[in-house]
Amino acid sequence: MGSSVGATGTTVRGYENEIGRQRGDVTTPALLLDLDAVRRNCEAMSKRFEELPASLRPHSKAHKSPRLTQMEIEAGAVGVACATVWEAQAMAAAGIGDVLIANQVVHPDKLKMLASLATDHRVTVAADDVRNVNALEAAAARADAQIEILVEIDIGMGRAGVRSVEDALRVAEAVANSSHLHLRGLQGYEGHCMREDDPEVREHKTRMANEKFTEAAEFLAAHGHEHLLLSGGGTGTYAITGSDPRITEVQAGSYLLMDVFHERLVPGEFEAGLTVLGTVVSGQGGTIVLDAGRKSVGVDYVMPKLAHGLGGTVRSVAEEHTIVDFEGAPPLRLGDTVEIFPSYAPTTVNLNEAFHVVQSGVVTDIWAIGPRPRTIGASNGL
Ligand SMILES: Cc1ncc(COP(=O)(O)O)c(C=O)c1O
Repeated sequence: MGSSVGATGTTVRGYENEIGRQRGDVTTPALLLDLDAVRRNCEAMSKRFEELPASLRPHSKAHKSPRLTQMEIEAGAVGVACATVWEAQAMAAAGIGDVLIANQVVHPDKLKMLASLATDHRVTVAADDVRNVNALEAAAARADAQIEILVEIDIGMGRAGVRSVEDALRVAEAVANSSHLHLRGLQGYEGHCMREDDPEVREHKTRMANEKFTEAAEFLAAHGHEHLLLSGGGTGTYAITGSDPRITEVQAGSYLLMDVFHERLVPGEFEAGLTVLGTVVSGQGGTIVLDAGRKSVGVDYVMPKLAHGLGGTVRSVAEEHTIVDFEGAPPLRLGDTVEIFPSYAPTTVNLNEAFHVVQSGVVTDIWAIGPRPRTIGASNGL
C-alpha cells in the first residue's frame, strides 16, 4: 500500500483509495475539507479586511495547515497566529513568516523549542508575568535568539492576561530591559464576547473590552512605550474589533472552515468548509443513527447539525454514534451517507488524522492534520 504525504510532511497511510471518489462515497467517518468553500471564505474575509482599518492575522489552531495559512497570506493576511509551539514550528518550517504564538509558553522544554525556532524565524509570543519574561530572556540568551513579545492584557475574559495597567507596565518594562526580547505590542482577546448570542450585547461588550485594551496601550505610551501593535479579536468579533482604528490586527481563524458555534455569531457570512461524513447504520421510525460520534466530531458549546439544510435535530452524540430525530419520516435510509456540520472546528480537526480534500464534489487529495497537540518525532530543538 502506498502513502499520501500531508501538509506537514507527515505520512498518512490507508487513505489512498479515497482519492477520486465522490464526496459522499468516502469510507466513514471521514473529515471532508471543501476546498472550494474554503477558498470562497478566504476571499470573502479578505474583501472584508480591505474595508477595515485593521489587518488579518488568521489564527491557525482550527486547521493547523500551513497550506491554508499560505492561502490566507496570499489573500492579504499579515502573518499567522498559533496556539502552540508545535504549530508555530510547523508554520515556520513551511516558510510562513511572522509567526505569533498567541498563548503563554512556560514549560522549560517549550521555552527551549521557542528559542531555537526564533534563531532563524520571526517569532512573537504572549506573556503576562515578569517571571515568564525572565525565563524567555534566559532561553533566548542561551540560544542566541531574539524573541518578540506581546504583553497580554485581560480585557474581560478572565483567562490569561495581566489584570491591571500597572502590571502591564511592569511586564513591558521587564521586556524592554531584556537584551534578547523585543516589546512588539499588546494582546487582548475578548473571548467572553464569543459566547454572547445577542449581536447588540456582543457589540457592546466587545467595544467595552477594546476600550480596556486601548486604555492599557495609552497607559504604556504615557510611560514611554509607544507605537505598540495591538492584536486581538476572533471570528465572532472581527467586524467590531477590526473597525476600531486603534487595533492593529485581528486573530480570526475559524471563519475559514466554519462550524455551528461560529455560524450563530456570523450567520450567512461564510460557508461550511469542514464536515464529517457519516453513514446511517440504523433507522427506526423518525430516528437515524450515524457511525460518527465524539471520536470524530468535536462537540463543544453547542450541538452539531446535519449539513446542507437536511433538517432533523441532533439529540445526542456518543463515542461512535450521532443520533438524529426527524418530525416525520427521515429523508435518509440505512446505508446512506450524510455530512455532519461540527459544533466546533478546532476540536473536530484535532480528532482526525487527515483532511479529505474535496474539489468540485470529488476527493482530490489527502492532507495530514498538523500537530495534535504534539507531533511524535517532530524536531523539538532540544
Ligand atoms: C488568543 C486567541 N485569539 C483568537 C482566537 C479566535 O479564534 P476564532 O476565530 O477561531 O474564534 C482565539 C480562540 O480561541 C484565541 O484563543
